[in-house]
Amino acid sequence: MIILKSTEEIAMMREAGKILAACHQEIAGMLKPGITTWEIDQFAEKFMLAHGATPEQKGYHGYPYATCASVNDVICHGFPKQEPLKDGDIVTIDMVVNLNGWLADSAWSYGIGNISEQASNLLETTKESLFKGIEMAVAGNRIGDVAHAVQTLAESRGFSIVRDFIGHGIGSEMHEKPDVPHYGPAGKGPRIKEGMVFTIEPMLNTGSYRTKVDADGWTARTIDGGLSAQYEHTIAITSNGPVILTEL
Ligand code: MF3
Ligand code: CO
Repeated sequence: MIILKSTEEIAMMREAGKILAACHQEIAGMLKPGITTWEIDQFAEKFMLAHGATPEQKGYHGYPYATCASVNDVICHGFPKQEPLKDGDIVTIDMVVNLNGWLADSAWSYGIGNISEQASNLLETTKESLFKGIEMAVAGNRIGDVAHAVQTLAESRGFSIVRDFIGHGIGSEMHEKPDVPHYGPAGKGPRIKEGMVFTIEPMLNTGSYRTKVDADGWTARTIDGGLSAQYEHTIAITSNGPVILTEL
């Protein structure tokens, strides 16, 4: 069942999203060679608490941290680590803010110091593919139209789209209906309606789209060691089109 949100509920999710966007902005300024993703995680948790919010990921199905920190070949759900980031790394920071019971979810990828041209193309294309998807998130379209737009852009630049992790409805729960894949045919899937709130969160790989999970049960990597990037926004469908809840 897809839970439609009222204007008031969307406004509350927007407030959570602003805190999340402000947190990402601070993190963007902190990320440089030598910092650890553990320090970033500590910062993010304190930032949320200082703004009257809580880190929804911490304790979610036993996940131990406020953020996911996914470096280089890690696709998603990487653990923050006390290991310094190095010049040339790419890292995705993903987090979910809970403000008064309403959630917002956003991930952003960053380059550390000087990154390769391939890495920088990957980051740029992944971000663009998110915005292509958002453009299609209009009442009357179908979820498949979003999925197809994301996949088409990604593959046109020679990158692959991860299948094993997808976007999702969100509200007072982190994962609600609808499922939002980032691949597949246009014209399929649930009809997009006003009041829907869901994430679009494409993960693009330089090599194969296939994934494997580490022995920790969380860390998802590319099967071939290729790089992976992700950008994610939480989007509300309104009569004026898609509204990004997770920006300033
Ligand atoms: N933020 C992730 C998402 O986009 C969920 C992370 S799983 C968790 O769905 F366990 F870390 F919370
Ligand atoms: Co998400």
